[in-house]
Order: sequence, then C-alpha cells, then structure tokens
Amino acid sequence: MSLLEARNVVSGYGDAEILHGVDLNVENDEIVTIIGPNGAGKSTMMKATYGLIDCWEGSVRFSGEDITSLRPNEVTRRGLCYVPQKENVFPTLSVRENLEMGAYIDGNPTEDDLQTVWDRFPILSERRNQRAGSMSGGQQQMLALSSALMIDPDLLLVDEPSAGLAPDLVDNMFDRLVDIRDETNTAILMVEQNARQALSVSDRGYVLDMGENEFEGDGTALLESDEVAALYLGEWYALNCKQQTK
Ligand SMILES: Nc1ncnc2c1ncn2[C@@H]1O[C@H](COP(=O)(O)OP(=O)(O)OP(=O)(O)O)[C@@H](O)[C@H]1O
Ligand SMILES: [Mg+2]
Repeated sequence: MSLLEARNVVSGYGDAEILHGVDLNVENDEIVTIIGPNGAGKSTMMKATYGLIDCWEGSVRFSGEDITSLRPNEVTRRGLCYVPQKENVFPTLSVRENLEMGAYIDGNPTEDDLQTVWDRFPILSERRNQRAGSMSGGQQQMLALSSALMIDPDLLLVDEPSAGLAPDLVDNMFDRLVDIRDETNTAILMVEQNARQALSVSDRGYVLDMGENEFEGDGTALLESDEVAALYLGEWYALNCKQQTK
C-alpha cells in the first residue's frame, strides 16, 4: 500500500478542466518531485490532493483511506500537510506565533519542537519575535515549512520550497528537506522549478505537462533522460549541440 495514491484525478476551476486524469504515488519516507512547465497543473494537483479544490473524477487515498472528498482540515488531521506556493505565512504574526498556529491541532508546540526549528533554520531563531510579513521571501518559505511540520505529518506537500530563495540558499533548502525526511520519516511531495537540483535529492519524479502525466521515474533516471532534459530542464540548446557534434 502506498502512502499516497492519486488515481485518474480530473479537476479544475469553474468550467476549465486543468487536470485530465493524473496518477501519482508517494511511498513511505520518499521524496518525490513534480516538475513541468508553467501552467502545467502542478499546483492544481497539490490542491486537489489536499482537498482545497474538488476532484471531478478519480480518487485520492492516503494511508489506505479514501480522502477524495475530505476537506483540508480533515486531511491535515490524518497527517497530510500542505505548504502553498504563495501567501503561506500569517504576515502580521511573529515567527513564533506562526509556529504556534501550525501546531494548533495538537495544542501548543513544545520547547523541543521549537528548538528543532531554531536548529534547522537558525535565521528563524534570530527573528523569532519579528513579524513574518517583514521577512524575505526565502525566510517566509522556511517558516511556512516549519509551521507545517509542527504536527509531525506523515506526508508534506510543498509547492516550490526554493521559490524566493537567493541562489546560494537553494541547495541548503533541499538539504534541509532531506534532513527532515531522514530525521522525522516525513515523506515529501514537492513541486519545483529548480528541477535539476530537486530531482537530484529525490527518490522519484513526475513530469506533468498540460494536465497529464508525461514522464515518471527515479530522480536520477529523469535527470539522465535526454528527452526530459531537452523538454523540461531547459537544456534543449545543450542537447542540440551535443547531437550536432556526434
Ligand atoms: N484559482 C484559479 N482559477 C482559475 N484558473 C486557475 C486558478 N489557478 C490556476 N489556474 C489555471 O490553471 C492552470 C494550471 O495552473 P497551476 O497553477 O496548477 O500551474 P503550475 O503548473 O503550478 O504553474 P507554475 O509553474 O506557474 O506555478 C493555469 O492555466 C492557470 O491559469
Ligand atoms: Mg504552481
């Protein structure tokens, strides 16, 4: 049994069908990355999985339970948390208050929980009393991720964790995601634009294009695929040159 099993998910907004039957699995302790062009439906797939928008067809199972029709708060209680692509912190609350909001289902965060956050992202410790909205995009991203982890979920959906980070901090974010998986056994399903770096820390990956599955495979297999590189990793030019010199 997979931890997460989405089958033939059809969904969208109003009359616009965006996902045309997407399949996706996450196993226990896996890091899985979804890549694909802008507008491919990656964020929409995250929202349909978490119950923020309805699945028009298909099903989503989590830990063996059918969660297709559950609302986000019910999904969270079952151990599946979601960090949206944008507006993912309470801007007028302090860093510490944001973490308390993240923990609210279980009561208040323990000092150990908070210490884990301060150790993982020392900048959040320095800014623990600062309003979240006054921090950089990258720092807000670290806070959003940390808030979602406060209830120790079995699976974390993260939409573009490296968005807004300075280039030299991107690898650090992916390293922290690997630490989180290794230390807490939380599986991670992320969407990423920094596809090459994300796939290199992922067990498996999916390519979504125009609301459909295009490719899936081991992180390394996707990275080594000339077709994926050419179409989805922005390396068409490099591949073309390689073929011309053969
Ligand atoms: N709230 C919404 N209402 C209507 N259409 C939407 C909404 N959100 C997204 N869409 C449309 O759905 C399609 C897929 O969007 P989605 O945000 O899932 O793409 P994405 O793959 O996450 O792209 P990006 O890489 O830019 O984040 C796009 O055509 C987008 O305009
Ligand atoms: Mg998106």
